[in-house]
Amino acid sequence: MLKIRQLSSFYGPIQALREVSLDVDSGEAVAVLGPNGAGKSTLLRTISGLVKPRSGSILYREHEIVGRSTHAIVKLGIVHVPEGRRIFTQMTVLENLMMGAFTRDNKKDIEEHLEFVYEFFPDLAEKRRQLGGELSGGQQQMLAIGRALMSEPSLLLLDEPSLGLSPIMVEQLGKTITAIRQDLGMSIMLVEQNAGLALELTGHVYVMQAGRVVLSGATDEVSIEEIRQAYLGGVSNS
Ligand SMILES: Nc1ncnc2c1ncn2[C@@H]1O[C@H](COP(=O)(O)OP(=O)(O)OP(=O)(O)O)[C@@H](O)[C@H]1O
Ligand SMILES: [Mg+2]
Repeated sequence: MLKIRQLSSFYGPIQALREVSLDVDSGEAVAVLGPNGAGKSTLLRTISGLVKPRSGSILYREHEIVGRSTHAIVKLGIVHVPEGRRIFTQMTVLENLMMGAFTRDNKKDIEEHLEFVYEFFPDLAEKRRQLGGELSGGQQQMLAIGRALMSEPSLLLLDEPSLGLSPIMVEQLGKTITAIRQDLGMSIMLVEQNAGLALELTGHVYVMQAGRVVLSGATDEVSIEEIRQAYLGGVSNS
């Protein structure tokens, strides 16, 4: 469903992605691992249209999405939950969720989605009138994901959702991600520093280092040792 080929992105003179190729099948969850600065967030930003690549192709359901606006990409069904749960702290939970429905204009449709998100995240239903900034870190992460679900994506891009969460919240997040994939049939691209969590939740793993994909394979066929090696030195040393 998502087919990335030879993708290169730059920030000014700095090359952050080096000919990255990667696939996500329909209903599949894929992990993207790698050390700080490897280019993981840049990859998600390039897919969602926030960063324009210098070269390469991103095919989504047969559409070339390179060059399209972020709005058009959301409309096609790709939603990005960025690093650091960027919720609106001075808006209520309900207002935050409604921001996720900006591509929709049918009121009844929006209401139904809201009900659905509240069922999925009962904490958010209970706190719907409270300000986003008054939620706990874990609840803010749920709100960021809930807001993304409001547009009913077919591909969800999650950038380090477990960052800063307690072990119990990480466990709950894992269940949520599994439910999003299994019950809603969405595809997921999961960027994580928590390799254990990522391997548990996904069927395919890519390891990035210095802008390149240095290791890729089915999650049950890649060993932790291989991943460690890829983190440290890339394929050339192995
Ligand atoms: N806005 C920016 N302007 C200039 N350089 C940037 C910008 N954002 C990222 N970079 C650089 O691009 C490279 C890739 O950064 P990116 O944020 O994609 O890494 P990452 O794998 O997500 O790292 P982390 O695990 O720390 O989040 C790094 O060298 C970084 O310094
Ligand atoms: Mg990042």
